Amino acid sequence: MTAKVIDGKAFAASVRALVGTHVAQLLAQNGIVPGLAVVLVGEDPASQVYVRNKHASTIEVGMNSYEHRLDAGTSEADLLALIGRLNKDPKVNGILVQLPLPGHLNSDLVINSIDPAKDVDGFHISNVGLLGTGQKSMVPCTPLGCLMMLRDHHGSLSGLNAVVVGRSNIVGKPMAQLLLGDSCTVTIAHSRTKDLAAVCRAADILVAAVGRPEMITGDYVKPGATVIDVGINRVERDGKVKLVGDVHYASAAAVAGAITPVPGGVGPMTIACLLANTLTATCRANGLQEPKGLTA
Ligand code: GUN
Repeated sequence: MTAKVIDGKAFAASVRALVGTHVAQLLAQNGIVPGLAVVLVGEDPASQVYVRNKHASTIEVGMNSYEHRLDAGTSEADLLALIGRLNKDPKVNGILVQLPLPGHLNSDLVINSIDPAKDVDGFHISNVGLLGTGQKSMVPCTPLGCLMMLRDHHGSLSGLNAVVVGRSNIVGKPMAQLLLGDSCTVTIAHSRTKDLAAVCRAADILVAAVGRPEMITGDYVKPGATVIDVGINRVERDGKVKLVGDVHYASAAAVAGAITPVPGGVGPMTIACLLANTLTATCRANGLQEPKGLTA
């Protein structure tokens, strides 16, 4: 079997286009322009690239982008004061604090100081609790992107066996909650799981979010299963730096029914879902109906 390739780049472009259409409508009908504030502390090169891409995409869909670049030595009190101002600013509908933060800052404290209604990352403890109890929340962007692609491919996910490999707060745990919300039978596996390959082979939907390059090979995949690769790992091959996922693409694609590539799979969906979340937060803040198809 040769797997269908799930094109995340094209899917993300369609999500951005849909968000753009709703943003234009918001302006025309309500005079509202959604605003996203991104806070970057320090000069981590990967974070700088992400923040640049977020800024460009935000502008592209017609939203306002507010960038706050702070010195690596910024105190916790100063960062909390900035977040306090953004929480109160009516022009700001979404707030994202780029992670990781420098070591002297308490990430949990900082994230939990964001107004949950503006927490477009879905990392605030209130949003985590709302998602875990099946209530309306802001949903973390990467798992939301994976869910959109899975719904698009399968239609209904009801009754399917889903295995999520990885238990991070950003991907693994919220992904499992979302799949449970769509009535999958969900297993969360991780580095200590016994006979991981056998556990994975029971999956109709296999989500790999372990952060280990090409760990999930074809013998972990049930014939015809859908494989979602969340990994983005930089490895050196033949003297060149290459991006690979957590899935060994060639061997998995030979067995799977559908698979996301790296790059061009889950990656582009994350920023598209950040824009979708900012639109959702704006609609909720203004008592307007939320657009369909852009939330969990
Ligand atoms: N750093 C890497 N990915 C993310 C993300 O999705 N959100 C935030 N805030 N920081 C990140």
